[in-house]
Amino acid sequence: TDLKNIRNFSIVAHIDHGKSTLADRLIQLTGTVAERDMKAQMLDSMDIERERGITIKANSVRIEYPAQDGQTYILNLIDTPGHVDFAYEVSRSMRAVEGSLLVVDATQGVEAQTLANVYQAIDADHEIVPVLNKIDLPASEPEQVKANIEDVIGIDASESIEISAKTGLGIPDVLEAIVKRLPAPTGDRDKPLKAMLVDSWYDSYLGVVVLIRVMDGVIKKGDKIKMMKTGAAYGVDKLSVLKPQMVDIAELGPGEIGIFTASIKQVRDTKVGDTITHEKKPCAEALPGFKPSIPVVFCGLFPVDAADFEDLRTAIEKLSLNDASFSSEMETSAALGFGFRCGFLGLLHLEVIRDRLEREYDIDLITTAPSVIYKLHMKDGSVEDLHNPADMPDLTYVDHIEEPRIKATIMVPDDYLGDVLKLCQDRRGIQMDLTYAGSRAMVVYDLPLNEVVFDFYDRLKSVTKGYASFDYQMIGYREDNLVKMQILVNDEPVDALSTMVHRERAESRGRAMCEKLKDLIPRHMFKIPIQAAIGGKVIARETLAALRKDVTAKCYGGDATRKKKLLEKQKAGKKKMRQFGKVEIPQEAFINALKMD
Ligand code: GTP
Repeated sequence: TDLKNIRNFSIVAHIDHGKSTLADRLIQLTGTVAERDMKAQMLDSMDIERERGITIKANSVRIEYPAQDGQTYILNLIDTPGHVDFAYEVSRSMRAVEGSLLVVDATQGVEAQTLANVYQAIDADHEIVPVLNKIDLPASEPEQVKANIEDVIGIDASESIEISAKTGLGIPDVLEAIVKRLPAPTGDRDKPLKAMLVDSWYDSYLGVVVLIRVMDGVIKKGDKIKMMKTGAAYGVDKLSVLKPQMVDIAELGPGEIGIFTASIKQVRDTKVGDTITHEKKPCAEALPGFKPSIPVVFCGLFPVDAADFEDLRTAIEKLSLNDASFSSEMETSAALGFGFRCGFLGLLHLEVIRDRLEREYDIDLITTAPSVIYKLHMKDGSVEDLHNPADMPDLTYVDHIEEPRIKATIMVPDDYLGDVLKLCQDRRGIQMDLTYAGSRAMVVYDLPLNEVVFDFYDRLKSVTKGYASFDYQMIGYREDNLVKMQILVNDEPVDALSTMVHRERAESRGRAMCEKLKDLIPRHMFKIPIQAAIGGKVIARETLAALRKDVTAKCYGGDATRKKKLLEKQKAGKKKMRQFGKVEIPQEAFINALKMD
């Protein structure tokens, strides 16, 4: 295809502003999918994405559009993941296209993720077309929202397109704007092949499928290609475009987006951001800015029922096929038995994987406290990585401990600034910068990653009613006064609840955990002490009173079915419990005990 007849774009929006609905309309109006095959939200493939309304993996669709100027254009839409954990994937997919539709809900205005995402688009030098959605709603205020876009984002919004993705109003204008206002890609057919690896996933029939954007040169079926970062070479077996179903194509030239398969065994071998070139005639240099996504948050995953261990192993292997940024290795715990220590890009990533294991593979799991990687500087001069607080050696061997720090950027409306500062301060943050753009503040903090991995993002959203946007990057390691805190239930240490904490925060954290556990652990026939300890020293204690009567005792009389129901309920509850010495601890306790209010 002639470069001037190609437009590549993405859609950036805050959650729920209508990104998926608009994508569906564009696909529908151009007849890309036959009406009968149209199902809502074509681009979100996994159930869990649909339920949570988040898009996890970038995906793409090729649309053919006969424009008013009489020419037919190829429009490639790349869908981008919307969460901070996947920031690197977002920035990569943005670099694969030249423009963005900025969708803003005309009843809401610019919100947190609108900003975070539009800045990624601006960073990638995109041409941006503002689109005001939901103007079918009486509460929509297009004029005010235009002013808001200009104020907060600082781009011209006078030519915003007013649409209703729901009714279809204005969609033809969006298609025309894509053609008229977004730039065509550039590239040289005669140069050696240079293509960006935008995304990859595992398909049970095809194996690893790789989504690419060709910058220069041409890729054809049968070509011998090479990944520049990993050095691995492959033969292209299949070359297709996504409409969104796969349609085979003879070649992909500059500016084009498509997929190939090449008997690649694992998604791990395809690094997002890598440069693909021909083995025999490679391009001179790789695309800039490649950085692999590395796991930063670790936790243990254990089957509630030890008999599920092999199933868990198989499930984890399957999930790893499709997710290169998720790592795992076998782990044993005195209390929890056999399981896996797993690494994730962030907390959302952790939740997504855990949910998939539970739902798709039907395995009940215990998740231990998420942790970051600490650097232990030993007295003998060596440095060890600590992935799991349970493995913390005796302090007499340790000279000092370093923890990872991040630079967090938070954008928030003025009204909530005080709460945000307090939250960051509570999490041992050091303020680095504070500036204003209109009525929004931008605050930059240096924070310990371990204070962020657990529930920081949830807390931030709740104290700011969802109006804060948050982004972070690692800035390195720094020494601090860190200790391992153990939790003892009925005098037995529960290693899965061990955490690394700052010495000065240990007491309040320990007290909070004991109080939480007291509520989370059901009463037993005997009283149970719950303690937090550092080394051998108890720093907090709660006592869970004994249960007086059997639950069925009050069902005297003849109601046998009621009694049976109660017993069944108890049994079902038990399935999700884990035995620690004489005490049964429910599954949720492991994660909820750590949430701080
Ligand atoms: P995520 O996929 O969750 O990031 O959200 P999204 O931005 O893709 O939003 P989505 O398309 O799922 O739309 C969110 C909600 O708004 C859905 O309930 C849509 O039906 C509704 N919606 C989308 N566009 C319109 C519109 O033009 N008018 C009205 N009234 N509702 C709309």
